[in-house]
Amino acid sequence: MTDKSMAGLNDLAEKQTVHIDADKKVRIGIIGTGWIADAHLRAYLHQPDVEIVAGCDLIEGKAKAFFESHGLSGVKTDYKNDEEMLADTSLALDAVSICTYNRQHAACAIHALKAGVHVLLEKPFTVTLDEAVEVMRAERESGKVLSIGFQPRLDENMQMIKRIVDSGALGKVYYIQTGGGRRRGIPTPFGTSFIEDETAGIGALGDIGCYSLDMVLKAIGYPKPLTVSGYTSNVFGTSPTYVGYPADKREAYAKRFGVDDFAAAFVRLEGGIILDFRISWAMNMDTPGDTIILGTEGGLRIPSTECWNGTVGGPMKLYHEVCGQQTETVIPIIEPGEVGLFDKKIRSFLDACKNGTPAPVPSFEILYNQAIIDGIAKSAKLGREIEIDIPKV
Ligand SMILES: NC(=O)c1ccc[n+]([C@@H]2O[C@H](COP(=O)([O-])OP(=O)(O)OC[C@H]3O[C@@H](n4cnc5c(N)ncnc54)[C@H](O)[C@@H]3O)[C@@H](O)[C@H]2O)c1
Repeated sequence: MTDKSMAGLNDLAEKQTVHIDADKKVRIGIIGTGWIADAHLRAYLHQPDVEIVAGCDLIEGKAKAFFESHGLSGVKTDYKNDEEMLADTSLALDAVSICTYNRQHAACAIHALKAGVHVLLEKPFTVTLDEAVEVMRAERESGKVLSIGFQPRLDENMQMIKRIVDSGALGKVYYIQTGGGRRRGIPTPFGTSFIEDETAGIGALGDIGCYSLDMVLKAIGYPKPLTVSGYTSNVFGTSPTYVGYPADKREAYAKRFGVDDFAAAFVRLEGGIILDFRISWAMNMDTPGDTIILGTEGGLRIPSTECWNGTVGGPMKLYHEVCGQQTETVIPIIEPGEVGLFDKKIRSFLDACKNGTPAPVPSFEILYNQAIIDGIAKSAKLGREIEIDIPKV
């Protein structure tokens, strides 16, 4: 470990409120060393009880260059893929971060759980519902921690939504409108792994749709989804004139685009709750609307963010009655503390691995998130409403 990373780690250790046993190290491997792996690695290096021992990528030399760019030497990277790395028992891995594109999430998670290591799996959970179920079966058999990488959950503003629902201020929730989106925001900053079917499998629906679903479903206790009527389109992604692509790559990217860039759905949830969903990577509109939760005693408006990333875009407003008077209460934004969301995501995962406590973002909750995403994709293909059938884990 470098002096620079040691200094960062000591800084953070001082800011942590929970005691960390720095003598008890967690031996970490990173699977997939692209864009998001960078955020994982930085956050691991802030922790006093981590040893980064290995990493791998399908692209030869990428993992080695990745660790070297962070000034790390001695990290083993001479593996063709995740399976080779996981088979190397000399690493004595405790846990892995899976930072591959979506299509590889399920396979890598299953390999890692079968190899007996804890798993922090990037979002979206998987591409299909069946894959999620397979991963959960491997999780159950392994007894290891599996946490899904939804860092917005650790944002106090997001936690406030759940606190408001739990307080009873909304009464019985019966209708939710959720989603958000970007006007021109198809993600191609480092190539095409988000937009090709072969690597991504799902587009805006999974990439940012999973966040907007989690924002409201977590708050209301993740009721089971029953039926869905879904729609997806790809108007912008497949257009060679889409201005969000680099000018010299428009034609090539448009040809490669194989996922959705917009999705909408009408979902029935257990408990008589309706979920009205829309999400967009690109559209001719600034926002498809704020997120709203309607209940018998109150309604909550959660403003959208411009670059939809699953967080609260401004002060929320509670619409309710006080002694018969229609009243609006503004809930101010809670400013972020010194510890960033990625640091919290990594810390909470490490704590679960070390202490045997539950996964910070458990698969059994995100299973319903994935079931809705899968249902929207299937219903859109069939052009009609379908029942959501969730296989037994
Ligand atoms: N939580 C967040 O805020 C956030 C932000 C961005 C991306 N993500 C998620 O992270 C994932 C990765 O996104 P990215 O932008 O880093 O993608 P990327 O394409 O930049 O990197 C993925 C890397 O994984 C490698 N890979 C794929 N399968 C592999 C395997 N079996 N073994 C070893 N390496 C393998 C690829 O070669 C590639 O280098 C996506 O699922 C995305 O949804 C999360």
